[in-house]
Amino acid sequence: PKLIVVTREGEEREIAGEAGLSVMEVIRDAGIDEILALCGGCCSCATCHVHVDPEFAAKLQPMSEDENDLLDSSSERDENSRLSCQIDMTDALDGLRVTIAAED
Ligand code: FES
Repeated sequence: PKLIVVTREGEEREIAGEAGLSVMEVIRDAGIDEILALCGGCCSCATCHVHVDPEFAAKLQPMSEDENDLLDSSSERDENSRLSCQIDMTDALDGLRVTIAAED
């Protein structure tokens, strides 16, 4: 599944994702270093914060309480905020567009 990433500079990158990986892993593996992912994807650092295109909101897996609490610690949170390590790439998400959140 294809992933479209908008970097903090506003550059749009199209990445060939891989089902089974998280969105965070796909972004990191593409060499985009704006996603720090300090905790390695175990939902405890919030440095993988992205804003998801609202068009895809209904297709995403629901967020856990942990993810919700962590996002609350970010001043950059909005209604489209998610932690990218908590979104699994699936074929249903082909063309998913995410914007990397500004640094807190
Ligand atoms: Fe740490 Fe996502 S990588 S919360």
